[in-house]
Amino acid sequence: MLAGALPSRTQPKLAFVMVGLPARGKTFIARKIVRYLSWLGYRTQMFNVGSYRRARLGSHQLHSFFDPGNVAGQQARRDVAMAALEDMLAFLDEGGDIAIYDATNSTRERRALVAARCAEVGLEVVFVESTCNDPKIVETNIRATKARSPDYEGVPEDEAVRDFRLRIAHYEKAYQEVGEEEGPFVRIIDVGRKMVLHRIQGYLLARVVHFLLNLHVQPRSVWMTRHGESAFNVLGRIGGDAPLSGTGRAYASQLANVVRDRVGSTVVVWTSTLRRTIETAEHLELPFRVWRALDEIDAGVCDGMTYAEIARVMPHEYEARQNDKFRYRYPRGESYQDVIQRLEPVIFELEREQAPVLVIGHQAVLRALYAYMMDRPPLECPFVSVPLHTVLELEPTAYGCDERRIELPPLPVSQEEIRETMD
Ligand code: F6P
Repeated sequence: MLAGALPSRTQPKLAFVMVGLPARGKTFIARKIVRYLSWLGYRTQMFNVGSYRRARLGSHQLHSFFDPGNVAGQQARRDVAMAALEDMLAFLDEGGDIAIYDATNSTRERRALVAARCAEVGLEVVFVESTCNDPKIVETNIRATKARSPDYEGVPEDEAVRDFRLRIAHYEKAYQEVGEEEGPFVRIIDVGRKMVLHRIQGYLLARVVHFLLNLHVQPRSVWMTRHGESAFNVLGRIGGDAPLSGTGRAYASQLANVVRDRVGSTVVVWTSTLRRTIETAEHLELPFRVWRALDEIDAGVCDGMTYAEIARVMPHEYEARQNDKFRYRYPRGESYQDVIQRLEPVIFELEREQAPVLVIGHQAVLRALYAYMMDRPPLECPFVSVPLHTVLELEPTAYGCDERRIELPPLPVSQEEIRETMD
């Protein structure tokens, strides 16, 4: 965990061990867990056995390599699996908090081996099994990810798909679902249509399960923008609850055009409870949801001041923030770290929502959401560039997120822009 990242809580180390046939979305789920926990401040890393296999044995293994009857193949697969496991244990030993062991782990024997090695070092293990019998989902997954995997580089797609199906068939012969006697597990059925939990206890696991409950594979974009320029932005004052300036209102109507042309009326719009975001949203003439969790970072006793005033009146506070902007908490206010914690329900809803979402928010809050979407380390979050009058389109892909920025036609130069150029 980032030193002091969360209020002092003794956090036992934890390993999530993925289980499932190939093309059941294990890596997708594993990456989502890593991103979510890293964003919350846990030092989290994924260990993907497929990458170890490719690095040690080369990429182009035919399906027969995965046949349970192929003794040499079995031994080689077991060796790479154990190498990945040892690296995972080393990571946890050297300060990591949570690890995800991403492999098929499709037999009881293999899981017992992994669990026994983890038990030797006192590591708690939770199996995360993904089962899916919906042929449409499996087919989409094969085409979207596997046929393009480095395992099939340079191989025509149809041939790659055929070989991959044969590989799955080998695993199917030996596959055993996780049983209750094996320990705690979460079974995700048909990408979250149903979930089975066994011995899942404690705060952190409950949060991870809650998070997993909201995952889906529906492609859709997340749009983000700050509110239009406010009267406080013009004066260089932070916080407050000022209305939009004239320039801010002009931006709001430009934004409405962009949303109409590029996003459409199915968009789900969220704002904070503050006037400047609500006034911006009103121009869209669409329903919107007002979230307190989206309110700007609380500047506490500094609310309504300019940065120059803070530096003059409270030089120690100013300097402390300069030195550690992520952890610095304004007196009677918040830090970026606090903002991340309170945004957790927003993240769950962002994951759950299947329509495009437009968040009309504030600088610090959008930085935190951006860091989550783009999988940036939390410490970088206070420095992400989220200028006024720019729309960010974030489009989740199989394993990441693409970003596009739309800068709207120049509006009269505002005080905030002048101030930011002078910083
Ligand atoms: O200046 C606009 C603003 O949204 C303030 O209300 C807020 O305190 C600030 O941005 C957050 O940015 P930073 O963390 O860089 O001070």
